[in-house]
Amino acid sequence: MEKYSIAIDGPAGAGKSTISKIVAQKLGLEYIDTGAMYRAVTLKALSTGTDISDSQSVVELLKDTDIDFRENHIYMDERVVDEEIRSSEVNQNVSSVAKIGEIREILVSKQREIANSKSVIMDGRDIGTTVLSDAEYKFYLNASVEERARRRYEEDKSSQSYEEIKRDIEKRDEIDMNREISPLVKAEDAVEVDTTDMDIEEVVDFIVGRVRGGKK
Ligand code: CDP
Ligand code: CDP
Repeated sequence: MEKYSIAIDGPAGAGKSTISKIVAQKLGLEYIDTGAMYRAVTLKALSTGTDISDSQSVVELLKDTDIDFRENHIYMDERVVDEEIRSSEVNQNVSSVAKIGEIREILVSKQREIANSKSVIMDGRDIGTTVLSDAEYKFYLNASVEERARRRYEEDKSSQSYEEIKRDIEKRDEIDMNREISPLVKAEDAVEVDTTDMDIEEVVDFIVGRVRGGKK
């Protein structure tokens, strides 16, 4: 089969990464988690005491940071940071980093470079609208905020309450959907999937079915 790409967008907890990983395996694609890149810069800013409201400092920091994917792990300056980038502190700050225009420019060009040479399924917020705007297949996964918070709470009940998680998700949605550059919005030509009442297998089957059937 020729090289092609699948773009997956949507808000936190919609199931993007879980579904993308399984679809990647089934269709033999490389999975690229763009959120992990924004999370890695945020982790570096937090761990170096960089003031996140000072955009220029964060941009300088990113220019001096090496972010890389290898064998399904994310590396920041040669260190695996898979777990650390999922902390509640990173959750609470990542959207402020991701709204900085120059940060987006640097990461988007890195994402396009990765997708340039192979077939990929890439997930994030602006994949269908910006990063891979000519992707062959585009899906916008959604679910009610209650269901999305419930899914996240089920993953780890020890560090935050359901209400706290829901509030963090709502705040992140608000910043992501209202920022000036590449806000979270469904691409006109994306297929929207409301996963509130769907299990993982149903969503995977829907996407794989459309791609195998060549339905864009
Ligand atoms: O997994 P979850 O949906 O919670 O978040 P993520 O995909 O890891 O993304 C974390 C944050 O990075 C988002 O809330 C956005 O602020 C930002 N992001 C973005 O702006 N553009 C992307 N393509 C991916 C993530
Ligand atoms: O990447 P994103 O933030 O969109 O969501 P995720 O991290 O893939 O999914 C959040 C959680 O919801 C995971 O624990 C999934 O197993 C679960 N999930 C689910 O229960 N039902 C779905 N249809 C999709 C995901």
